[in-house]
Amino acid sequence: MKMLIASCAVALLALPSPSASFSIPSRHVGKKSDRSPTSSSIWPDGLHSSSSNVPSLVSSSRSSTSLNLGPSGIMTRPVALAVGGTISALVAGKAILDRPSRPYNPESVATEYDAWTEDGILEYYWGEHIHLGYYNDAEMEAGYKKKNFIQAKYDFIDEMMSFGSIPSEQVGGLSVLDVGCGVGGTSRYIARAIGKDSKVTGITLSPNQVKRAQELAVEQETPNAHFQVMDALKMDFPDNSFDVVWACESGEHMPDKEKYISEMMRVLKPGGKFVMATWCQRDDRQVPFSKKDEKDLKFLYEEWTHPYFISIEKYAELIEGTGKMENVGTADWVRETIASWRHSIWVGVYDPRGFIFKPRQYLKCVRDGYCLERMHRAFDRGLMQYGMFHATKKLE
Ligand SMILES: C[S@@+](CC[C@H](N)C(=O)[O-])C[C@H]1O[C@@H](n2cnc3c(N)ncnc32)[C@H](O)[C@@H]1O
Repeated sequence: MKMLIASCAVALLALPSPSASFSIPSRHVGKKSDRSPTSSSIWPDGLHSSSSNVPSLVSSSRSSTSLNLGPSGIMTRPVALAVGGTISALVAGKAILDRPSRPYNPESVATEYDAWTEDGILEYYWGEHIHLGYYNDAEMEAGYKKKNFIQAKYDFIDEMMSFGSIPSEQVGGLSVLDVGCGVGGTSRYIARAIGKDSKVTGITLSPNQVKRAQELAVEQETPNAHFQVMDALKMDFPDNSFDVVWACESGEHMPDKEKYISEMMRVLKPGGKFVMATWCQRDDRQVPFSKKDEKDLKFLYEEWTHPYFISIEKYAELIEGTGKMENVGTADWVRETIASWRHSIWVGVYDPRGFIFKPRQYLKCVRDGYCLERMHRAFDRGLMQYGMFHATKKLE
């Protein structure tokens, strides 16, 4: 496709010169002799004059030559310029979009989530949740756009709770850790579900997310949800602190996946439940990645500040490898979540108010839309998988 667009652009650039292409009405020639028919500077006059002055669309007795292009036969210079300009702009735009803009570095996760939280666009569209939604077979058959975009995110949490055998009603006395909590939508949802006697602690690298999560906890009268800035790779919590460790779409950002897993297993109490959702790349040990796979993955890593992804199989090995876990289960929820990518684009197109009046953020949203589509394609063709994991910590 890129080659095709590039060749079209080159072809248009190689069009015959204006002097050979258009008939020039005689009254535009003459006095303004510097604007001779052979000069490309005649073009603005033709453009702004009455139709009789516009260079002829077809060969006529007054025209010397016409520009023949395509099956319809003729393309005027303005059309050619417009087409050429549009194609060149598309080629240039795509080249800009294809260059990832937010590669991972040790500060980038905090900085980017701070910025996302501050500009409010993500919250405008995604609500309190920075994770994919869940669409069942009937909803997919009916058409994903019919489903409420935010409801899909709540459904995802419900399904993840059930996948991880996490209590979904008031049980009392539970302590839950939400690793990489975003603005805490899930932490507060679980905190309300399990009741005021229980406590949910959300951690994130982004101070702005903690601030927003705390504001929303007050607004939503959810005092048993607490938030703090803490690195999941070196948590301050003592061993065996939590009954449940929950991690939803934070693994993607971890520069050390083994440490990420081992830290979460360390702070889980014996008998405690672990549940995790994270984007994975396919296991390349049997079928190595092609050049295109590698190129696509590089873009997906570097556009949204991910150091790298690993496979579902590799995560399962890391969990088993701690020696602390039993009943390890995995699944690929690509079918249940894939609609989220295009649904995200759709909500922005359907209601552009979230970014349209914010010119500085506009470009960022265009980039995000492009990345959402590339994510969709990578999941759709099996390069990416939606990893789900559950496990129980062995009793000592
Ligand atoms: C895609 S968001 C998911 C947010 C949340 N789990 C949700 O479902 O709405 C990723 C989150 O992981 C957090 N994160 C990434 N790396 C982290 C780390 N090393 N320690 C703590 N949080 C981290 C980010 O700050 C962000 O809050």
